[in-house]
Amino acid sequence: MTEPLVLGIETSCDETGVGIVRGNTLLADAVASSVEEHARFGGVVPEVASRAHLEAMVPTIERACGTAGIRLQDVDAIAVTSGPGLAGALLVGVASAKALALGLGKPLYGVNHLAAHVAVDQLEHGPLPEPCLAMLVSGGHSSLLRVEDVTLGVEPLGATIDDAAGEAFDKVARLLGLPFPGGPHIDRAAQSGSSVYVDFPRGLTSRRDLERHRFDFSFSGLKTSVARWVEARERAGEPVPVADVAASFQEAVCDVLVRKAVDAASDQGIDDILIGGGVAANTRLRAMATERAAAAGIRVRVPRPGLCTDNGAMVAALGAELVARGRDASSLDLPADSSQPITTVVA
Ligand code: KG4
Ligand code: ZN
Repeated sequence: MTEPLVLGIETSCDETGVGIVRGNTLLADAVASSVEEHARFGGVVPEVASRAHLEAMVPTIERACGTAGIRLQDVDAIAVTSGPGLAGALLVGVASAKALALGLGKPLYGVNHLAAHVAVDQLEHGPLPEPCLAMLVSGGHSSLLRVEDVTLGVEPLGATIDDAAGEAFDKVARLLGLPFPGGPHIDRAAQSGSSVYVDFPRGLTSRRDLERHRFDFSFSGLKTSVARWVEARERAGEPVPVADVAASFQEAVCDVLVRKAVDAASDQGIDDILIGGGVAANTRLRAMATERAAAAGIRVRVPRPGLCTDNGAMVAALGAELVARGRDASSLDLPADSSQPITTVVA
């Protein structure tokens, strides 16, 4: 069989993504984002996102097909994010995917958003090392996972016990008067700042915390610490050195993420770390992970930034792998599951 041609749809948050792949080859990755519509609220408004998905869906599918130079009838399967994510937003993607699958008479795969963040790296660096240690860091999740075969399941080793890494970036950006979503702005501001200007706390790294939370994360104390620091400056009537605070905060987040990822990989005897999710676009995280892992004899794979943030290509990539490995498709009464567990790859 030639490699499967799969169309993937992603609508779990504020990006309407439609990707088309043939096996591990990316043919199109069309994304329409409603991020501008949410910016003035400082966060994603679910109803606004759902409405934007409805409006963007058909044009984005058409754009993806045009770029890939295929007709809808040519696809072998439709894949869609069935969860986790915003319920109303997921629903638009799932309903659209069902309509396509039914109308075209093609199998439907309702896939896990987080597993798709892992699978996308195949489009850039080829088949995933098995096993690999995946660190997923996004606006909604921060987890360390052992991945044996991404089509069968993943084993959670640890996760955040409060804020997600991306959420911390977004909240700290707001404190510093930077726009939403904050990650890219902090990343940029930090380039001209000093990462040792403030020694912000590294959550869950004390010896006592490591006993219970060796592979877990906590970012809410760090966020509070930045808030206190900024408030103290403002109360004293002194200017806040935005670039230095951004760099010091970013250093604290990256330090903990990388330390724990390398520790988990070493503990599991795994030689490859894969980083995915929106925060994986972070310049400092990419550099620090590569450098520190190399010192431990561990390789690091990170997809290019455009594939790290939410997109349809990641869903198509996982779909193609599911087809290639002969996994069962979903049924046409597939529900959107806003809290789909990380252990459920195909719903
Ligand atoms: O994976 P993603 O696009 O959506 C979710 O599934 O959450 O991740 C979005 C998150 C946001 O919190 C955003 O601030 C963060 O990823 N992000 C970054 C960078 N680019 C996006 N965080 C740090 N540095 C970046 N360059
Ligand atoms: Zn995501």
